[in-house]
Amino acid sequence: TAAPAPRISVVGTGYLGATHAAAMAELGFEVVGVDVDPAKVEALSAGKVPFYEPGLPELLVRGVESGRLRFTTDLAEAAAFADVHFVCVGTPQQPGSNGADLRYVEAAFEGLAQHLTKDALLVGKSTVPVGTAALMAERVRSIVPADGPRVELAWNPEFLREGKAVQDTLAPDRVVVGGASPWGEELLRRVYAKPLATGTPFIATDLPTAELVKVSANAFLATKISFINAISQVCDKAGADVTVLADALGHDVRIGRQFLNAGLGFGGGCLPKDIRALMHRAGELDANWLVSLMQDVDEINMWQRQRVVDMAVEACGGSVLNRRVGVLGAAFKPDTDDVRDSPALNVAAALHLRGAQVVVFDPEAGETGKRSFPALGFGTSTEEAVQGADVVLVLTEWPEFRTADPVALRALTTGATVIDARNCLPAQAWRDAGWTYRGLGVAPVQ
Ligand code: UGA
Repeated sequence: TAAPAPRISVVGTGYLGATHAAAMAELGFEVVGVDVDPAKVEALSAGKVPFYEPGLPELLVRGVESGRLRFTTDLAEAAAFADVHFVCVGTPQQPGSNGADLRYVEAAFEGLAQHLTKDALLVGKSTVPVGTAALMAERVRSIVPADGPRVELAWNPEFLREGKAVQDTLAPDRVVVGGASPWGEELLRRVYAKPLATGTPFIATDLPTAELVKVSANAFLATKISFINAISQVCDKAGADVTVLADALGHDVRIGRQFLNAGLGFGGGCLPKDIRALMHRAGELDANWLVSLMQDVDEINMWQRQRVVDMAVEACGGSVLNRRVGVLGAAFKPDTDDVRDSPALNVAAALHLRGAQVVVFDPEAGETGKRSFPALGFGTSTEEAVQGADVVLVLTEWPEFRTADPVALRALTTGATVIDARNCLPAQAWRDAGWTYRGLGVAPVQ
C-alpha cells in the first residue's frame, strides 16, 4: 500500500507562503499555514487574501472550504501536525546595510526545532544569502535531541512572480532541491508529484548551489533590465529606438525578448533587495567581480528614476514648483498592489518634494500607495489624475493606461507632454492626439 500523503505546514503567510499553502491544498494535501500576525491568520482563515493577486482568492477559498487548508498562529500546532514544513518568511534588507535580515528565518527554524516531536523535513523557501541554509541545519541539529525524532533540512527556492503567483506555484519552470537526503528527496518528489509528472525538471543539488540558483536568477533578470536601460541611454543620444532594438535582439533565442523592456527599471520586494544582498554576501566571500557588477546594475536602475524626474522637470520648463503632475501608476509593476520599492512612487515622491502638486492613480495600488506616501495626492481614475495636469507620467504599464484614449485625456490637461516611462503607449496615436510624446530610449520625432 502507498504511504499516506505527507502533511504540510507553511511557516510565514506573506506573498510566498499564502500562495504556497493554497497551492499545496489545491494539489490535495492537508496544509496548515502559520503566521505570527493574528490579523493575517484571521483574514486567510476567512478566505480573504490580504493583498491583490489574480486567482489566489479562488484558490484560498477552495482550500479553506474543503477543510484541507487552515491557518494558525501556533507553531507548536504545526510542528505536531505536519511532516514537511516549508519556511516562507521574509528576508528584508537590513536598515543601513545591503545585507539581508535573517531574524525571521532563524526564528522559524529554531521555533520549529524546539516544538518537533515527530520526524520532519524542514524546507527553506525564503531567499537567503549563500551559507544560511548550512547555518540553519547546524542550529536545528543543536536543538533537536540526538535520540529525538529524525529531523532534516533541505532548501527549495521559489521562483514565483507577483501577479502570476498561482500559475508559477502550480506549474513551476523547475523544482530545485538542495541538501536533501534520499528520504528528504523522496518526500519532496511526492509533494511535487503533479508538476513533475508533466515533465517539470527536478534539480537535486547541495545547499549552497540551491541557495545561489535563486539569487543568481534574480541577479540575471536585474542585469538584463539594467543592460537594456543602459542601451536606452545610448539610443537617446544616438537617435535610435530601443524598443525596435529589443525586438530585434529578442529573436536570438540565446538572448530572448523577455526582461528587455527599457523604462523606469525594476522595483518590488525581491530584485532590488536580492541584488544588494548578493553584492553584500559576495563582498564577504571576497568574490569581488560580482560586487562591482551588481553595484552597476543597481546604480543604472536607480539612475532611471532620476532620468524620469529630470524629464518631468524639463517638460515643465525647468521647475515643477506648483505645477500639476498627473501620475499614472503606483505599483512596482502591473497586476499587483505591491508598492515596495516602487519606481513609480519613488518618482512621484521626488516630484512632490520638488514642490509639484502630484495626483497619482493606480487601478489596484491606490490604498497601499497612500499608506506608504500619505503626502501624495491620490485620485480614483485616470481622468482625475490628469485633470489640469501640466505633464502626465505613465509609470506602471497597466493595460488600462496603454488603452486609454489620448484624445479624451488631452482635452483634460493643461500641458501636452506625456512621459511614457514604461515605453508602453501607442506613441503615434498620442502624437496624433496632439501630445508631445517622450519615451526612454525612443527618439523624439523632430
Ligand atoms: C521576481 C522574479 O521575476 C521571480 O522569478 C522571483 O521569484 C521573485 O522576484 C522573487 O524573488 O520572489 P517579481 O518581483 O514579482 O519577481 O517581479 P518581476 O516580474 O521580476 O519584475 C520586477 C521588476 O522589473 C518590476 O518592477 C518590473 O517593472 C521590472 N521590469 C521587468 C522591467 O523594468 N523591465 C522588464 O523588461 C521586465
